[in-house]
Amino acid sequence: MANVVVVGSQWGDEGKGKIVDWLSERADVVVRYQGGHNAGHTLVIDGVSYKLALLPSGLVRGGKLSVIGNGVVVDPHHFVAEVDKLRGQGVEITPENLRIAENAPLILSLHRELDAIREGSNTGLRIGTTKRGIGPAYEDKVGRRAIRVVDLADTDTLMPKIERLLSHHNALRRGMGLEEISADAMFEELTSVAADILPFVDQVWRLLDEKRRAGARILFEGAQGALLDNDHGTYPFVTSSNTVAGQAAAGSGMGPGAVDYVLGITKAYTTRVGEGPFPTELDDEIGEYLGVTGKEWGVNTGRKRRCGWFDAVIVRQTVKTSGINGIALTKLDVLDGLKEIKICVGYELDGQKIDYLPASMGAQAGVKPIYETLEGWSETTAGARSWAELPAQAVKYVRYIEELIGAPVAMLSTSPERLDTILVHDPFQD
Ligand code: GDP
Ligand code: IMO
Ligand code: MG
Repeated sequence: MANVVVVGSQWGDEGKGKIVDWLSERADVVVRYQGGHNAGHTLVIDGVSYKLALLPSGLVRGGKLSVIGNGVVVDPHHFVAEVDKLRGQGVEITPENLRIAENAPLILSLHRELDAIREGSNTGLRIGTTKRGIGPAYEDKVGRRAIRVVDLADTDTLMPKIERLLSHHNALRRGMGLEEISADAMFEELTSVAADILPFVDQVWRLLDEKRRAGARILFEGAQGALLDNDHGTYPFVTSSNTVAGQAAAGSGMGPGAVDYVLGITKAYTTRVGEGPFPTELDDEIGEYLGVTGKEWGVNTGRKRRCGWFDAVIVRQTVKTSGINGIALTKLDVLDGLKEIKICVGYELDGQKIDYLPASMGAQAGVKPIYETLEGWSETTAGARSWAELPAQAVKYVRYIEELIGAPVAMLSTSPERLDTILVHDPFQD
């Protein structure tokens, strides 16, 4: 039985939610393994739209086990709100179908506040974060002072942990002229949410091992995209976790051998939300057209996404850094009706041609895309459910992308709807 990792191969919002939902029919377990509620994954089923941020997309399809792994940062207040919202849409959520890793770190109010203050200040670098407290929470995890989900179960030992965390944060807050936080107030905050979260807590490493031994198919749901990876992305304009496929193992407590197939979700053009380099960004009416036609507004923050042509350089690099076996190409329909379509096949940097995204911030900002121009198609691909329905020029475009990135198209998506999907190669049958 194959286990599949779904990862974003660009700057996020490639359509991971739709593809995870589609694939989850064939899976038994769906696992989130990094990020937090900075993600915004959209599922559209029979015209009804579901927007998930922290919860795995597998929840919407009944009868599947969904898991929030240790690599995720969990905001307990947000958790309660998202569970309520989805239940309001008729989605069943119980400790039977949702588990949270006991060793996942918590996002607390002070993380959210710090994220927002940094983003709002005139000094330092603006990343354009989602202001969800993701970065500060991961900093505390790596700094070995985080409060973790399991700590909520033992109120007797919670106070010294809170004091250790606050000795760091209150020093920071004094320096920024902010009011200090009292240990009692934080104790109150944590104990008030404990009862909502503790019923879902489990030893996820053991649960997944048991499932795997029993022959279950596991689907790992990545958040963000490879270019937002803390190591491999456009640093420092990245998120604070590893988003590449290798993180699926560490962020869930399984060994790397648990992963059989990596599916890179890839938009047929490129978008990015937040600050940072974007070589193929279009500041013209075509960029505007892609944004309007593709409805490129953030799921969570409502921010307008920046749009541009497909960049084969970055996806080719992602195929390597995530070990992508095949891609799911999404939003091909958004290109319907364009006379000409450009693809970035390489970069120019200081008069030299290069075939990769350089690591330095200055060089990333300085690369100029080298384009090839393809003829567009006037027919519609929207809603196509078979390869035979695609116009010849669209097939040419897809084939050229495969050639440039060095990975085959395993799935093709032609609308937001669950069923408007073409399966070329089943990742679970690898
Ligand atoms: P994610 O973060 O990768 O899950 O992606 P988002 O949900 O943030 O953004 C993708 C958007 O594109 C959502 O609104 C989806 O409903 C929509 N979408 C997904 N696949 C397709 C497609 O093939 N065509 C079109 N037109 N929209 C799509
Ligand atoms: P999904 O899973 C697109 C971006 C933010 C910002 C940077 C850091 O829906 O694809 P953070 O709040 O993580 O510290 O912000 O990362 N970002 C995303 N962009 N899709 C996402 O998730 C994102 N999650 C974070 O806009 O540039
Ligand atoms: Mg998204």
